[in-house]
Amino acid sequence: MALQRTLTMIKPDAFADGNSGAILAHLEKAGFKVVGMKKLHLSPVQAGAFYAVHKERPFYGELVEFMTEGPIIAACLEKEDAVKALRDTMGATNPAEAAEGTLRKLYGANIGRNATHGSDSAENAAIETAFFFSGLELVG
Ligand code: RTP
Ligand code: MG
Repeated sequence: MALQRTLTMIKPDAFADGNSGAILAHLEKAGFKVVGMKKLHLSPVQAGAFYAVHKERPFYGELVEFMTEGPIIAACLEKEDAVKALRDTMGATNPAEAAEGTLRKLYGANIGRNATHGSDSAENAAIETAFFFSGLELVG
């Protein structure tokens, strides 16, 4: 598998709890290189657009409210097979089901407030990276 890029977010819960540095250190130790990174506070329209795929799901309103409650960090990461590697490093969506040592096990509280986001496919990684970053902001 070749070098690949993916998109992560340190969600508002993890940022507010002061876990951003630990999460970034964990990702770097796991072999991810930060290609682009920014802090921002999403508006409801922006968070709704980012998670538009979940528009019809019962948790959509709660998800948008959570993702807009405070600042986040968005980062584009590079690694061999990065999409799958990031999902493995984060663990299951529900922290209670996430493997020991994963980001969501370490820093997530519950299925809604689960500390980090990771793209679920190469195609979505490209779409989500373009949502946050221009080409000029990605330094490989
Ligand atoms: P993400 O997109 O944030 O990386 O999470 P994921 O792929 O593991 O899970 P996904 O199904 O895409 O869900 C997106 C986010 O919605 C919230 N959620 N809440 N209350 C619930 O049942 C529920 N289910 C999902 C979580 O914040 C989840 O990460
Ligand atoms: Mg997802």
